[in-house]
Amino acid sequence: MEEQIERLARECREEISAAGSENALYAVRVKFLGKSGLISELMKGMRNLAPEQRPVMGKIVNETRASLEAEFAAKGKQLHEKELAEKLASEKIDITINEGSRTGRLHPLSAVRQRLVDFFVSMGFDVMDGPEVETDYYNFEALNVPKDHPARDMQDTFFLGGNLLLRSQTSASQVRYMEEHKPPLKMISPGRVFRNDDDATHSPVFHQLEGLVVDRGITMCDLKGILDEFAKHFFGKDTKVRFRPSYFPFTEPSVEVDVSCAMCHGKGCKICKGTGWIEILGAGIVNRKVLRTCGIDPDEYTGFAFGFGIDRIANIIHGIPHIKLLYENDIRFLEQFR
Ligand code: PHE
Repeated sequence: MEEQIERLARECREEISAAGSENALYAVRVKFLGKSGLISELMKGMRNLAPEQRPVMGKIVNETRASLEAEFAAKGKQLHEKELAEKLASEKIDITINEGSRTGRLHPLSAVRQRLVDFFVSMGFDVMDGPEVETDYYNFEALNVPKDHPARDMQDTFFLGGNLLLRSQTSASQVRYMEEHKPPLKMISPGRVFRNDDDATHSPVFHQLEGLVVDRGITMCDLKGILDEFAKHFFGKDTKVRFRPSYFPFTEPSVEVDVSCAMCHGKGCKICKGTGWIEILGAGIVNRKVLRTCGIDPDEYTGFAFGFGIDRIANIIHGIPHIKLLYENDIRFLEQFR
């Protein structure tokens, strides 16, 4: 009987080492160690042994069982790890599958526009959208530019017939806003504007951002304070702002605003055409006539307004030499803005 046990144990070990999967190993275990497995079968033969031999045989069988159990456990662990590794390898998802393909991003103009809007919103300005097809009234008349006034020639307007035109300035939104809101008010209006103009720095369609603040006691100092913050935020901390007298029918007094050139710090270079300054916007104290037209008493309230080209700001920030680059959507150009 001892021989039989040894033979069974040998066979069992051979099958354990041949088992290629956890399932196969389990089948071997049932075959040898199961309730009606080969070893249990063998134990039935104990009955035929002499009583003094039984405990000896019992000990041998138990030891064999225990050592086989240990081998099953070791092999089981090994198979489990192997199968897990195989499963992980076969179910792996290749997240680099899109490597090398192009991902989208904001157009430089949209990105700059968003930054500009964020800046003014952080200062408490309300944001307003106005129509691109405007009436003569909002684009000109309410802004103190009557019909046949020579100031209309400042902007080459696309007239659409009747009273309609493509707005030539976002200043039209000022009037609409003041009709609907009473002071104190603080608003910006970014949007598309149109002028019959076409060269390296002008495009028939471009983008402006209008700003308007009306309250008691608003002065040129408030305007300068805001524009100073604005210039430092977008062109660098050491940027200087300069006001030059100018003329707009809807502001009195009016100014043209320059910032010191960020490229040469005022020394004079190609970007600032040797002057050390870059013109960025028009502004002024809102003309009393405009306030009155919009139902605001100019003896009680004053305000300032400013307007600039978003395209121009984007071109200065990124050093873009030609406005058309912003509209051609040439991928080689756009890919440079990451
Ligand atoms: N609307 C003017 C322009 O397009 C800019 C401006 C806005 C000037 C507001 C003064 C006040 O040139």
